[in-house]
Amino acid sequence: MSGLNEIRAKFLDYFASKEHEIVPSASLVPNNDPTLLFTNAGMVPFKNVFTGQETRPYSRATSSQKCVRAGGKHNDLDNVGYTARHHTFFEMLGNFSFGDYFKPDAIEFAWELVTKEFGLPKEKLIATVYSEDDEAFELWKKIAGLPDSKIIRIPTADNFWQMGDTGPCGPCSEIFYDHGDHIPGGPPGSPDEDGDRFIEIWNLVFMQFDQQGDGERLNLPRPSIDTGMGLERIAAVLQGTHDNYATDLMRALIEASAHAANSDPDGPHGVSHRVIADHLRSSSFLIADGVMPSNEGRGYVLRRIMRRAMRHAQIVGVDEPLMWRLVPALVQQMGAAYPELRRAEALITETLKLEETRFRETLARGLKLLDEEVESQAAKGVLPGEVAFKLYDTYGFPVDLTQDALRAKGMTVDMDGFDAAMQRQREEARKAWSGSGEQATETLWFELRDRVGATEFLGYETDDGEGKIVAIVMDGQEVDEISAGASAQIVTNQTPFYGESGGQVGDTGVIFTPKGAEFPVEDTQKKLGALHVHIGELTRGTLKVGDVVEMKVDTARRDATRANHSATHLLHEALRRVLGDHVTQKGSLVMPDRLRFDFSHPKPMTQEEIAEVEEIVNRVVRQNSDVSTRIMTPDKAIEAGALALFGEKYGDEVRVLSMGLDEEKANGVYSVELCGGTHVRRLGDIAIFKIVSEGAVASGVRRIEALTGEGARRYLAEQERIAREVAGALKTTVDDLPSRVHSLVDERRRLERELAEAKKKLALAGGGGSGGEQPSAKDVNGVQLLSRRLDGVNPKDLRGLIDEGKKQVGSGIVAYVAVSEDGKVGIAVGVTDDLTARYNAVDLVKTGAAALGGKGGGGRPDMAQAGGPDASKADAALDAVSAAVGELAGAA
Ligand code: ALA
Repeated sequence: MSGLNEIRAKFLDYFASKEHEIVPSASLVPNNDPTLLFTNAGMVPFKNVFTGQETRPYSRATSSQKCVRAGGKHNDLDNVGYTARHHTFFEMLGNFSFGDYFKPDAIEFAWELVTKEFGLPKEKLIATVYSEDDEAFELWKKIAGLPDSKIIRIPTADNFWQMGDTGPCGPCSEIFYDHGDHIPGGPPGSPDEDGDRFIEIWNLVFMQFDQQGDGERLNLPRPSIDTGMGLERIAAVLQGTHDNYATDLMRALIEASAHAANSDPDGPHGVSHRVIADHLRSSSFLIADGVMPSNEGRGYVLRRIMRRAMRHAQIVGVDEPLMWRLVPALVQQMGAAYPELRRAEALITETLKLEETRFRETLARGLKLLDEEVESQAAKGVLPGEVAFKLYDTYGFPVDLTQDALRAKGMTVDMDGFDAAMQRQREEARKAWSGSGEQATETLWFELRDRVGATEFLGYETDDGEGKIVAIVMDGQEVDEISAGASAQIVTNQTPFYGESGGQVGDTGVIFTPKGAEFPVEDTQKKLGALHVHIGELTRGTLKVGDVVEMKVDTARRDATRANHSATHLLHEALRRVLGDHVTQKGSLVMPDRLRFDFSHPKPMTQEEIAEVEEIVNRVVRQNSDVSTRIMTPDKAIEAGALALFGEKYGDEVRVLSMGLDEEKANGVYSVELCGGTHVRRLGDIAIFKIVSEGAVASGVRRIEALTGEGARRYLAEQERIAREVAGALKTTVDDLPSRVHSLVDERRRLERELAEAKKKLALAGGGGSGGEQPSAKDVNGVQLLSRRLDGVNPKDLRGLIDEGKKQVGSGIVAYVAVSEDGKVGIAVGVTDDLTARYNAVDLVKTGAAALGGKGGGGRPDMAQAGGPDASKADAALDAVSAAVGELAGAA
């Protein structure tokens, strides 16, 4: 008997031997298709290859693709557990031809693999074809030698396969296995075909068309092949059972569940163990692909799946969270084929545990309410919508969980009542919002948010993807369509564009369609914390609501922004280490070209502190460790040491970013922060960290601006260029620059001093005087007056000069006006001691100062000084002093 792992390998090897490229399974989140909730078939990752939009280096491929069918076109959630073959998660084996081979080879490969490699007896097999497909009918006859009676023409849509409402499609042909007449059921196309006897094991789709949203069906460039074989089904056939849940892998998980619950896998709780086994797979694989439980979109489907399993764990009678304990069994079964499962094991475990712990807080009370209501409403057979809403809103029961719980009792939910209750609650939330002072213009966004739901952000995982336009806003109004030249805001159901928030700027890039529309995105804003709004101008073509568009973020800009955002976290922690725990974030701006970080700290940082912070950050950058992201409740995150921002609003769940290694910390991690931004994958992506300024923004708040990566490199290169240029001008090397500059500064000081001396001397010698005459005292009514205008002399030097002048005259009065080079004017008067009884220097200097146009003047009777505004009055001032001396002398 072959196990699932061997069957998978055999399939892939067979097609590899037929020149098919083995392509690893793509993510469950189809970022190349916004119309799909999850990858639901093997061909999804190749969608654009079929339509010719994308080319690959091969034209034949084979894969084992992870698929989830829960929510959306192919939704199997409600049936899981109760049937033999429904799964929310399964693996689809497939072979693909992209315009290479067509029907004959596809049928031949399939027949050879099934009958020779897998060794299924021919008489157990039948084929179906699309009713009008004579060609396929003849091929089955010729290649497989099947009699006409075993080639069934199916007239219905059953034999026409399409991926979703749009996309590649075509008629198909299926291979069925007959489990034998001991099992009830009829052949395909018969009234009792739904029985378990005839099981479809392989679907061969002859891809020919591309279904458009408007109903039109275009021809694919070349006919192609897409096939899908459910691994669990073929394994069941090969393992001699008609029940997928009895295959080795599923059985191992069911037993793990039963064992952990201390229960019988085949006892009365058998259904629950099957539900748990299936949902464990879908939940774990979705988490590994980046989906997190939430209240919207993909995250909500995940939450519904998880909670459905968790309710079954409760039914089985387990008191503690159960799902997370089953992760090792899953990893053991599937980790080799899907390494992403191993890589994400810790995240899966934590996420399951957290969700179940939280759900259990309300689960028991919710179930009690449900039981009571069931009892009182049993006669009607319908649970009021109000009650289902209360279970949803207060106890966290997704409505399909309630429906599932009622199913066993033959009851249903009044869904109209449920929707009405939901609507009422939305309106109340909206009223509360408009009461919170938001602008009236936000009403539009509010309506939109209600109608289209939050934009799903793909940008943590990818820089490009597809989105479906759900709204276009122009001049504050919603419009259906825009044409070239229109400035507009576009909202899509999902996007790789980050909307400005948490200090990180919005992404730029381009939105375009294969039909030629081009909308450069100048900015992306986030409205109501939920809608990513792409702002720009349509430069070519037209865009309308409902269009599926390609969305490409400017990767270089985003990468630079990532580096700056991660560096901000490292900086925050380094500041706390160097300056102390009082450092808290007061603001942050993360842009592609730099980062700005405001934090509380009472005084300027010293050069040494700045250098130490830079040193720490760069050391952590060089560790080049992986940046890890986890999702937790805010409380748990803070418990785990995350730096939370006071005053920030956090939702039910927060992203927790851990960066760097630190053996000295209990958790071994250098920095843990709550953050919704985009970050580098490894710290080495930051490359270099350089602080370029540190200053004050407000009292007690400092601001650092810093650069990383290429920006930092360019900055450092520029600094070096400047140093070289200066060294060149000084004819020295950069290394010797400091000592050279110091000696130049000293030399300059010395020269300045010498120059001032020389100027004084020159001035006193008469060279600087106004008339050029020799300095000699004149007799004014018997008093010697030495009076001069000194150009180029600083007024502060006057005092010394006056002293010298007094010595020169021996007995007399000295009056100087100094006019410096920069226009300062000062007057000073000195009186030799023998004359101070008759002449007061202060009075004389006041007289001079008045003539200079100034007031004031002060000093002692033997020496006084004053300033004045008007250099042109210098001579007049000296004349005034001379006149005053003359008067006083005359009066004596
Ligand atoms: N895409 C086809 C299917 O899912 C093969 O059945």
